[in-house]
Amino acid sequence: MEPHLREMVGMLAGCITLLLAVRTLVLSMIVAVGGGRPRHLPDRTFRLDFHAKRANLRAMIYSSDATCFNQIRMYRATFDKLCHMLDTIGGLRPTKHMLVDEQVAMFLHILSHHVKNRVIQFEFGRSGETISRYFKLVLNATIRLQSLLLKKAEPIPEDSNDVRWKWFKGCLGALDGTHIRVQVLAQHKGRYRNRKGEITTNVLGVCSPDGEFIFVLPGWEGSAADGRVLRDAIRRPFGLRVPLGNYYLVDAGYTNCQGFLAPYRGQRYHLNDWRQGHQPQTLHECFNMRHSAARNVIERCFGILKSRWAILRSPSFYPVRLQNRYIVACCLLHNLIRREGVQDPLDEQLDSFDTGPPTIENTPLVPMETSEVWSNYREQIANEMFAAFVPLGHN
Ligand SMILES: *[C@@H]1O[C@H](CO)[C@@H](O)[C@H](O)[C@H]1NC(C)=O
Repeated sequence: MEPHLREMVGMLAGCITLLLAVRTLVLSMIVAVGGGRPRHLPDRTFRLDFHAKRANLRAMIYSSDATCFNQIRMYRATFDKLCHMLDTIGGLRPTKHMLVDEQVAMFLHILSHHVKNRVIQFEFGRSGETISRYFKLVLNATIRLQSLLLKKAEPIPEDSNDVRWKWFKGCLGALDGTHIRVQVLAQHKGRYRNRKGEITTNVLGVCSPDGEFIFVLPGWEGSAADGRVLRDAIRRPFGLRVPLGNYYLVDAGYTNCQGFLAPYRGQRYHLNDWRQGHQPQTLHECFNMRHSAARNVIERCFGILKSRWAILRSPSFYPVRLQNRYIVACCLLHNLIRREGVQDPLDEQLDSFDTGPPTIENTPLVPMETSEVWSNYREQIANEMFAAFVPLGHN
């Protein structure tokens, strides 16, 4: 070979070596962003794998709001905000296997569709063990956002002109129990069986007039009466607090007592009754109509919650301890999504949401004390309403 040719080949080889070095450096930086290579994968396979997973996530989450909503029941901006909060406040960290957004997307996808672990394994290309480990990590991080995401109770002000709530000055919202189907060991099934024969947990939910959760207590067996669950909620160290002068609306299954305003029993109550064109004839019917229109917010809350998260609609594959935690997480995410303020498609689906008549026979085991003062208070509100009542067609 000619000397100058040999020189050129040498230079060329040098260039190639340099290029290769630069390329390796760049790729290792990309991989470092992804957290580095797990030892069992050869470098090249890992890089391809990492990119394939990112591409999958892009298609699933980042390509459009419509697909994002289908996959994880929220829009991209909300997802972004959630990831940021989980990262900065919830303490969720990217690992060498998975960035934060993929961890969160996988978690939300499980809540949204209640898919079995092996389906997720296929969709996200992850092992079953990895999925359940990250599910728990994201769950814990979400629960750490509790104080941020739970709504602070605010009373209806004196000068409120909200058509539904202005009658209830000082009211903080509404509460009710809802049954969520769970899977428990055979020996516990008796306690978890509700009156309809389903195996459920009875979850107490308390929400504000604008439909955000203020307090959630999961974990009571399905056989427990609503009133008993409420009693427990009040007695707990970090339980439900109702300041003097404030109260929540409750249905006729609860006792009408200090802090909890129930409708009159034995009177027409349910929203559907009024929708069919009945006009209230008496003071108490008038009160019940207004009461049911406002209290309906908690039914709507539960309705939206269950229609968003499929994991709350069918018995779970997870152990009870975990079930209680993800029920709370679902409520927290519900608040975040509503707070983001974008039009929630689930809201429209539920415009006439109403769940059958309240369970009046379900009286509390240990009734909370009714008092004359409280009964008079209710009577006074009823009087104000009736005085202001203008039957349809008379105004
Ligand atoms: C999540 O929190 C629970 C309860 O605080 C704890 O027992 C569990 O170890 C935590 N799990 C993870 C994966 O951090």
